[in-house]
Amino acid sequence: MLVLGIETSCDETGVALYDTGAGLLGHILHSQVAMHAEYGGVVPELASRDHIRRLLPLIQELLRAKGRELGQLDGVAYTQGPGLAGALLVGASVAASLGFALRIPVIGLHHLEGHLLSPLLAEPAPRFPFVALLVSGGHTQLMRVAGVGGYELLGETVDDAAGEAFDKTAKLLGLPYPGGPALSKLADSGNPNRFRLPRPMLASGDLNFSFSGLKTAVLTLTRNNEMDAQTKADIAAAFQQAAVDVLAGKAERALARTGLDQLVVAGGVGANRQLREALSARAKKEGFTVFYPPLDLCTDNGAMIAFAGALRLQEPGSRHAGLALKPFGARARWDLEELTSVSTT
Ligand code: KG4
Ligand code: ZN
Repeated sequence: MLVLGIETSCDETGVALYDTGAGLLGHILHSQVAMHAEYGGVVPELASRDHIRRLLPLIQELLRAKGRELGQLDGVAYTQGPGLAGALLVGASVAASLGFALRIPVIGLHHLEGHLLSPLLAEPAPRFPFVALLVSGGHTQLMRVAGVGGYELLGETVDDAAGEAFDKTAKLLGLPYPGGPALSKLADSGNPNRFRLPRPMLASGDLNFSFSGLKTAVLTLTRNNEMDAQTKADIAAAFQQAAVDVLAGKAERALARTGLDQLVVAGGVGANRQLREALSARAKKEGFTVFYPPLDLCTDNGAMIAFAGALRLQEPGSRHAGLALKPFGARARWDLEELTSVSTT
């Protein structure tokens, strides 16, 4: 079964071809980061318009590069939500049109299901069940992943996402969008101990996170100190240390609470070197295994959607088989725990 995956939930247009026999044939991505950078964040209307411009040429480019034709597709998977409504609708309408024209099934997927299953595309792959720490610009969640459709939310942020906190803190320090990588680089030359920042909710006893207080504490520091280059670096280092302490501490607690010994880190913040070092050190000490899928599979991409779509379409008695002619839609908000596997419904 050859499945085309389409991801347009935010500021990246991603397409991929997944073959259930041969595996991932290829995926390509167009990032809008440069376009949004001058506004300091994602502008939803610009995002939608850019997806419209990019999506069809990207699909054609991918098919050409992999020597395939539209007629060979057996299904189309697209991100149905959550995300920016206009951006989602671009992927949804292209997927529905292809399904209608080619008379093949179309499946709308939950974006986070794509993220949670994407580690299975990498080598080495974790085995079910595992704990996933999803840390992106839009999400900070700990999930127990029991299998396709078996997702239990263990904890999540009550305010800002981890990546959002990195980006907002970077902005306070005068760094360009998206600030996470720039802040991390600046932190390398800083002293994390000069300023003591809070570790929000680290001792809360649950598996939730909060990052907005940390950002406010940084704001106070920037107001009360002469912001020379070294001070900026020291604040960046203190912020990073605090965020990493909380993320690693809660991830470790999630493993202890579930009794599992595999942790998967997904999402853009998973690229953070200090977070990786902290988790690897804890893994060695506590005897668990951490999986860091390659970054192009961790951040938003079409491959995870093509893959999750193929798994869903292959489920015995898949209710998606006849979807091509039905109305399509986007869901800007969507609770992941509403999902189940076909076999459990
Ligand atoms: O998963 P992702 O590419 O996109 C979504 O948000 O869906 O994550 C992007 C986020 C941004 O907030 C970015 O600043 C952050 O990941 N990020 C980092 C690093 N690289 C990317 N944060 C901290 N350290 C990094 N090295
Ligand atoms: Zn994402």
